[in-house]
Amino acid sequence: MSDIYVVYFSSTGNTEEMAKHVADGIERKGGNPVLTEIGSADPDNLKEASAFALGCPACGAEELDESMESLIEEISGSLEGKNVGLFGSYGWGGGDWMREWEKRMAERGAKIVGGEGVIALESPDGDAEKQLKNLGEALAELGAQA
Ligand SMILES: Cc1cc2nc3c(=O)[nH]c(=O)nc-3n(C[C@H](O)[C@H](O)[C@H](O)COP(=O)(O)O)c2cc1C
Repeated sequence: MSDIYVVYFSSTGNTEEMAKHVADGIERKGGNPVLTEIGSADPDNLKEASAFALGCPACGAEELDESMESLIEEISGSLEGKNVGLFGSYGWGGGDWMREWEKRMAERGAKIVGGEGVIALESPDGDAEKQLKNLGEALAELGAQA
């Protein structure tokens, strides 16, 4: 069973809730989700993985949290050809932080699973939950092929 890392930052729990839905999707397809709060993440695990997910809400002014910025910096040299799922919650913007994040990851060679990051307005609703579970399922399948 492949370990699929789901590394997230969440200050008020919405992105954490999203991460749990991704983990459910991974389990559904027989993968082993490793749900990890960013403070406990080991970048080496991501460098070695062929498929993983990162979650971060819109912070600052349409920015990522610094903890996610540092992690991306650490792993940026190993993103070529990797299947990366992105997700995060937002409050009032239109999702610009996510569009920028996708672009930056793609510039480093990552393949964004599902074509774009999954976003949810505050706590994920039923539609977001479905998209997150689908993302988890796709990650499990991609991780198993490696
Ligand atoms: C300091 C701060 C900055 C934020 N900046 C944005 C922003 O630029 N755009 C936006 O849509 N939401 C912004 N938000 C709202 C959060 O993204 C939103 O509340 C989200 O659900 C938080 O996710 P979490 O519960 O995983 O921490 C901000 C919230 C805080 C506290």
